[in-house]
Amino acid sequence: MGGEPGVDSGAAKIRWYTNRERRYPFGERSPDPEWFEPIGFPPPWPDRPWIYGVVVVSANGVLAWRRASPDDDPVLAVLGDATRPERIADGWHLRHLRCFGDVGLGAQTLRDQPRLVPSPRELGDPPAPALYRFREAHGIPHHPRAIVYSLRGNLELTSPIFNTPGMDAIVVTAPAAAAALSDRAVRTPAVGIIAEEVLEPAGLRRAHERLFAERGVRYLACEGGEKILRALRAAELLDEVFVTVTDRIIDGTAHEGVVKIFDFEAEGADLIAEGKISPPSGWTFRRWRFNGR
Ligand SMILES: NC(=O)c1ccc[n+]([C@@H]2O[C@H](COP(=O)([O-])OP(=O)(O)OC[C@H]3O[C@@H](n4cnc5c(N)ncnc54)[C@H](OP(=O)(O)O)[C@@H]3O)[C@@H](O)[C@H]2O)c1
Repeated sequence: MGGEPGVDSGAAKIRWYTNRERRYPFGERSPDPEWFEPIGFPPPWPDRPWIYGVVVVSANGVLAWRRASPDDDPVLAVLGDATRPERIADGWHLRHLRCFGDVGLGAQTLRDQPRLVPSPRELGDPPAPALYRFREAHGIPHHPRAIVYSLRGNLELTSPIFNTPGMDAIVVTAPAAAAALSDRAVRTPAVGIIAEEVLEPAGLRRAHERLFAERGVRYLACEGGEKILRALRAAELLDEVFVTVTDRIIDGTAHEGVVKIFDFEAEGADLIAEGKISPPSGWTFRRWRFNGR
């Protein structure tokens, strides 16, 4: 596996000192035991995928804000120094969580990060053969499918996410946007469309039942942003969330449109796993479960 020069696997490995999920449908061996402890999951639901959020937040729970300019990147601000072992650990954690199925993204996240390719190896990453071997050993496609949520279908179809060989994309959208989108997508054959009344919880649920029945989506990592995570939560589709809490405090008055992560305890979620890296660190890796199974 890779990482940053000077950061060894031991320093950037998350030790899960609390772990109440003991079912391992992908086996009890992680893709690379030197870098990762295994992560367990419940079975998918009978009619829809198991859906887990994956986010990083500041110590005071800030997930994002409205960007004042293309350089005003809330995620990078919440993460801080790119060479710290905590940040390396979080980067690999995100990629590890892409090893179990498919990946969902809200359209705004894609518009803000147009070069994002949500695979175990992102553009510019070192090779990650162990992660792909793990996917292939468990009978899932080389790349995750990219599930892109958009109400208006306002998507840049020339982006890498829609043009990476071997990566299929499925846009989950509203019927009103689907026709125009499918005319445009004719030239991008790897793009499929699922059109339902997704503004309504029942329609969003139906879209996920179709992802399950028609596309074989079983485990879905939803990497945000906040709007799509809230929509999934409102439809009771967000089963759990992996949250990295960094040591940065964000001054909410310094930005417009600040959004925070859920108040998990107030919403009755269970903290089912918690970990840290082994050098002393102010970062904590948590897993909050909404839906028992
Ligand atoms: N801290 C983190 O871990 C993290 C993670 C991800 C993103 N972010 C940051 O968060 C920001 C973007 O987040 P966001 O909350 O503004 O947007 P988002 O959740 O990424 O995307 C919102 C868009 O999703 C579509 N949408 C909303 N509800 C939907 C539904 N029910 N069904 C289908 N599509 C639906 C709409 O697309 P259309 O507008 O196309 O209709 C909407 O504009 C970015 O700056 C990103 O960098 C942070």
